[in-house]
Amino acid sequence: MEAKRWLHAVLFTFVMVGLFASLVINVSNEEHTHMREEKNKLVSISTTFLWLKKIVSSLAFGDWQFNKVPVSEHPEKPHRVGLSPNTSSCHKSFAKPGFQVYCCPPKPESEEPVIDFEFPDPSVPLRIRKRVHLRDSDYIAKYTRALKIMKSLPYDDPRSFGRQADMHCIYCTGAYNQKYTNDILSIHRSWLFFPWHRMLIYFHERILASLIEDDTFSLSFWNWDAPEGMVTPDMYFKEPFIDTERSETHVRRPKVADINYNFVESNLKPEEQISKNLAFMYHQMVSGAKKVELFMGCTYKPGTNNSCDGPGTVELAPHNALHSWVGKESNRYLENMGVFYAAARDPIFYAHHSNIDRLWGVWKELRNNEPEIVDPDWLESYFYFHNEKSQLVRIKIRDVLNITKLGYDYEKIDHPWLNARPKPSMDPTIARHALNMRHNGYLTTQSSDFTPKGRTLDSTITVKVHRPKNQRKTENEEEILVVYGIDIKEDVYVKFDVYVNAIDATTIGPESTEFAGTYVSLPKGITLVLNEGEVKRKSKSTLKLGISELLDGLQANEEESLWVTLVPRGGTGVHTSVDGIRIEYMA
Ligand code: C2O
Repeated sequence: MEAKRWLHAVLFTFVMVGLFASLVINVSNEEHTHMREEKNKLVSISTTFLWLKKIVSSLAFGDWQFNKVPVSEHPEKPHRVGLSPNTSSCHKSFAKPGFQVYCCPPKPESEEPVIDFEFPDPSVPLRIRKRVHLRDSDYIAKYTRALKIMKSLPYDDPRSFGRQADMHCIYCTGAYNQKYTNDILSIHRSWLFFPWHRMLIYFHERILASLIEDDTFSLSFWNWDAPEGMVTPDMYFKEPFIDTERSETHVRRPKVADINYNFVESNLKPEEQISKNLAFMYHQMVSGAKKVELFMGCTYKPGTNNSCDGPGTVELAPHNALHSWVGKESNRYLENMGVFYAAARDPIFYAHHSNIDRLWGVWKELRNNEPEIVDPDWLESYFYFHNEKSQLVRIKIRDVLNITKLGYDYEKIDHPWLNARPKPSMDPTIARHALNMRHNGYLTTQSSDFTPKGRTLDSTITVKVHRPKNQRKTENEEEILVVYGIDIKEDVYVKFDVYVNAIDATTIGPESTEFAGTYVSLPKGITLVLNEGEVKRKSKSTLKLGISELLDGLQANEEESLWVTLVPRGGTGVHTSVDGIRIEYMA
């Protein structure tokens, strides 16, 4: 340690002298291509200072990396493809404002040797993940044994249940910075959502299997998208699958889960809740998910922290909604499941995410297994996980796109929601006429752009939104309803629904064609950047909803404008404002 500090000091002096010399040389060097004008001298000088700043900060951070320090006169940015964590940057983070958590490993991952991911032996039979509510007692006995061992491992064992849960905490609260910047890395609300969680449960499953030396052991999925699977599976009411931090009103039998939970009790009869759930699934998987970005989430690139905040349909709900539905209401932040830093402490998390993971595959199958994203910034993004031998593995998104190669599969089951296409709540022509009568005089003159002030969703709002062209150009083009500039003032749960051409949007739901989609946000906490203590301002987010199928269903393809209604849910709108609503087209 001492020696390292000396080395830094010597290097520092050396570099300072070198820099000073280069500054002088730069200014007087006539061959320098950028030196023709006085202005360019300034550029050159400031570049030199930029180096200086970088080197000083690099020394201060103690992470001397040569690829971070320019070594030529024309410093080039390191080749940055994809996102990855800086494993020496693990720092305290905020699960909630004012609520600091620390989920870093006891020994920094940067001090461990790393191996690159290798596919499992293809001759080993596939592990088949099945519906948890149909698992037999043999299976439950095995899983019980494996989980008990996992829970008994000491925290410094990366295979322990505590560490598994904290991996999720690290990546969801932004405890790691991105590799080449001080921007934090976060795996929710973007295209990282599906692949990162696939990796987490992949290693989790293999660790469980190895603890009981059973190559066939597989996780199970909570089949909340099918009627028989919508109640909390029995297994989770027995040790070691119990988590005391669950909602007592929701997580009890025979309560049917509200997979589009609005923070208010739906109080529906089981059959009603089931058909609402199925229609909602249809929306999130089919009509609302016709384009990759709509399902996978927005494009998150290196160094652009917070500029992408657009979760895909299924991530928003059922994913987020069920997290909050399971978490305990009397806990301040709905721990465990209702808040990301604690969510993976509940064993049901892994069954929830197995279903999410399965649905990614189902969605892909519905589009003939076409590759979802070919952008290298996605494919080459990589993360680190410990495998069943406690080795630290570097794994890329491109490694996890084929689950057969990963050695597992899901049992093939029907998708009952495929036949649950919503219907218009009333005759669309009559509705349109009534809407025009009711709103025209007053709303037509109002703009659907509320900038600069934004509009608070303290009550339901309806606006007329102009369609830039009343015919979609090509068959494949998707019409997108964009709610932009969503600003959540306090870090609290927020949910609002969006309806098109609805007479009374407060009385209908996803079972009606008028339902265009939902926005759900779990509190995220603020993020702390390594060594700077600087609080990142969260940027506003955007909700994009695919509405082509909705427009067909409402016979609204010829209309020049649409009536769009935003319905805040569970009283959460007072914390939310939006800058406006517009229509775009997605190729
Ligand atoms: Cu990373 Cu279900 O959350």
